Amino acid sequence: HSILVLHGPNLNLLGQREPEVYGSTTLEDINDLLKKEAKSLGVVVAALQSNHEGSLIDAIHAAREKHQGILINAGAYTHTSVAIRDAIAAVKLPTVEVHLSNIYQREAFRHHSYIAPVVLGQISGFGAESYRLGLQALVHYLSG
Ligand code: DQA
Repeated sequence: HSILVLHGPNLNLLGQREPEVYGSTTLEDINDLLKKEAKSLGVVVAALQSNHEGSLIDAIHAAREKHQGILINAGAYTHTSVAIRDAIAAVKLPTVEVHLSNIYQREAFRHHSYIAPVVLGQISGFGAESYRLGLQALVHYLSG
């Protein structure tokens, strides 16, 4: 299986961005961790980061051709984007939503995810480990 890993807005700044919330791990560290985990799970991952809603939507549409599942941290678009939710619903690829921080411990505006109703499940609050757990859950689903 091939899994598309999508990182949304501002995640390119991980490591520098609000380290008290998001830690010192960089996006490259997360992608490396996922590549290693993918190898041990017998799958491949392709990672893409974009600060643009439309680019994320284009990538979700294109995923139908090349990937069997999507792991997504939509960043702030989680809380605003009906369009990303509709894209996930449209392509019907099994998708897992992840967040570094526990969004339910934070400001009220982060408590609602537009994406949550159209994904298999959500993992939130474990830092980079959220991604690893999300990948494991997705691969488990795909091979089950
Ligand atoms: C985030 C949580 C979002 O609320 C925030 O806008 C982000 C990162 C996380 O991984 O914890 O950009 O998705």
